Amino acid sequence: MTKQRLAPHRVGVLGTGDVGRAFAAGFHSRGHDVMIGSRDSHKPELREWLAGAGAGVKEGTFADAAAHGELLVLAVFGQAAAAAIAAAGPANFTGKVVIDAMNPLDFSGGFPPKLSVSGEDSLGEQVQRALPDAKVVKAFNTIGNPYYVDPSFSGGVPTMLIAGNDAEAKRVVGDVLVDFGWPEPVDIGGIEGSRELEAICIAWVKIGGVRGAWDHGFSLLSG
Ligand SMILES: NC(=O)c1ccc[n+]([C@@H]2O[C@H](COP(=O)([O-])OP(=O)(O)OC[C@H]3O[C@@H](n4cnc5c(N)ncnc54)[C@H](OP(=O)(O)O)[C@@H]3O)[C@@H](O)[C@H]2O)c1
Repeated sequence: MTKQRLAPHRVGVLGTGDVGRAFAAGFHSRGHDVMIGSRDSHKPELREWLAGAGAGVKEGTFADAAAHGELLVLAVFGQAAAAAIAAAGPANFTGKVVIDAMNPLDFSGGFPPKLSVSGEDSLGEQVQRALPDAKVVKAFNTIGNPYYVDPSFSGGVPTMLIAGNDAEAKRVVGDVLVDFGWPEPVDIGGIEGSRELEAICIAWVKIGGVRGAWDHGFSLLSG
């Protein structure tokens, strides 16, 4: 294996949907000790994944995964973020880098979804407020999960935009991205940048609806 920028870490991934599984498999493929957490580890789909593509990934509750990880990922349904954090135990996040890949999508009005939090707030800020002793970095929320690791696009690699309050935490997330095959991310500033990054997700979903395909990403071009 090529030498990774991020030294071997224990990683806790909270969320067992496509996004949680993409992260867990990606970190495991890069030599990290990964635990994936859920409300119900007996779900047949999860058992099947752990026996196949997820072989080698440990599993547990949200609290088990949060306690296991030195580096944590939040990848649950956006409107369930507060419940997942409460179940995981906020103390388990203390001092840790937390990648927030979530979007606060509200599908109650059909497709396309709206943001359930917007304007002068965002889910990223809510997560940081719920976890004041953690270093939350919004990242990976503007791209489809099949492209998280070893991204391959016919038109070049998109830009990964990140936001967060802690410079060192953003450097760690940059290491993760480079290890996953991405160029250095573009850092748009503090965690309040989640307002824009979550809005970009809505544009991404709308464009997917128009195109009838989900293999697109956004690239920042400069003169
Ligand atoms: N799909 C993508 O490519 C993509 C890309 C970028 C960002 N995102 C964002 O990433 C997040 C995860 O997306 P996803 O597609 O993997 O699946 P998802 O259906 O949004 O989330 C699945 C996860 O949410 C948890 N969950 C659902 N309801 C819950 C509740 N009431 N309390 C606690 N946990 C609950 C589930 O727990 P269990 O494990 O117990 O079932 C599961 O782990 C979302 O915020 C999404 O917007 C998605």
